[in-house]
Amino acid sequence: ADLGQQREILKGTQRRLYSVANTLGSSKVTVLGAAGGIGQPLSLLMKLNPRVSQLALYDIRGGPGVAADLSHINTNNTVTGYDPTPSGLREALNGSEIVLIPAGVPRKPGMTRDDLFNTNASIVRDLAKAAAEACPDANILVISNPVNSTVPIVAEVFKSKGVYNPKRLFGVTTLDVVRASRFISQVKKTDPTNEGVPVVGGHSGVTIVPLLSQSNHPSIDGPPRDELVNRIQFGGDEVVKAKDGAGSATLSMAFAGARFAESLLKAAQGVKGVIEPTFVDSPLYKEQGVDFFASRVELGPNGVEKIYEVGEVSPYEENLLEAAISDLKKNINKGIEFVKNNP
Ligand code: NAD
Ligand code: LMR
Repeated sequence: ADLGQQREILKGTQRRLYSVANTLGSSKVTVLGAAGGIGQPLSLLMKLNPRVSQLALYDIRGGPGVAADLSHINTNNTVTGYDPTPSGLREALNGSEIVLIPAGVPRKPGMTRDDLFNTNASIVRDLAKAAAEACPDANILVISNPVNSTVPIVAEVFKSKGVYNPKRLFGVTTLDVVRASRFISQVKKTDPTNEGVPVVGGHSGVTIVPLLSQSNHPSIDGPPRDELVNRIQFGGDEVVKAKDGAGSATLSMAFAGARFAESLLKAAQGVKGVIEPTFVDSPLYKEQGVDFFASRVELGPNGVEKIYEVGEVSPYEENLLEAAISDLKKNINKGIEFVKNNP
């Protein structure tokens, strides 16, 4: 009996060790656009993440340089930079669990995110084609704008290759959530880490719908509420204006992207109850013709575990949602049409 008990104890220890080894660095993460304003700090944060075992950096210029630089940091994972060739891209993607895509041009003052469509749509389409072939089961995290259109573009490409899994495609809207909690904490003079504001809809202007009625400060009303909602919806413009032609948010975006990737890695490695708002293939507004929608999503080993309903909203937020739906529909269709006409 003693021997049997010892064997069981040993087995348990083995299982625990295995699960720890699994948690610490078992995932390959790829960054496409890794040498850019977002790509570099995002890659740095991924290099510091103990759940990442391999970091693959690809860009049309500068990938190997950023990789060489990061590879000297004494964390126990490997960083490889790839040449801007089809085989370089393929190798960067092979076996990847998470593909972060911040490739594409950023806004300049006076531009909307939709003004980026003509340049970024084909960049995202081509990168999606490569991912659909090299790592069809990976989680694809789209950062490139306009997110409301680039996410449907990735979906269409994956569909055309017969490998679309709606549970593995995410538009990264975490920055809106990060901003919302920071901005409300400035108004209410609180600690932003204790603030949580669900932000639903999409990722541009009026499609960004903060639900203050579901925050810690549901009674905020009148001009302070309008001002706060406007600041959350147009927070990106604040940065574009301040950078004055040199681009848009990069550091706060890298922080937000790294947070989302960490949530996904955590959930994939078995942590339960990980919830992040994100723009996904969603049933919530399909009847109104909106195939993708951001709301709170529980993440799991298969990607999307559960999509939460928007829940109870105020009449004011009902109006915000209506405006969002109308714009979202146009943005999403634009992405779908683009792939149909430019496969
Ligand atoms: P950036 O110009 O500094 O960097 C973009 C990088 O992409 C460059 O290094 C460029 O060489 C690379 N690139 C271009 N085409 C490529 C291709 N085909 N394959 C691989 N790499 C390619 O821009 P940035 O400030 O890092 O912004 C990148 C994108 O992210 C923009 O579209 C911006 O609007 C968007 N963005 C999204 C959010 C969000 O919340 N989702 C926030 C901020 C910025
Ligand atoms: C943001 O929200 O900061 C990004 O989408 C970049 C932009 O163009 O504003």
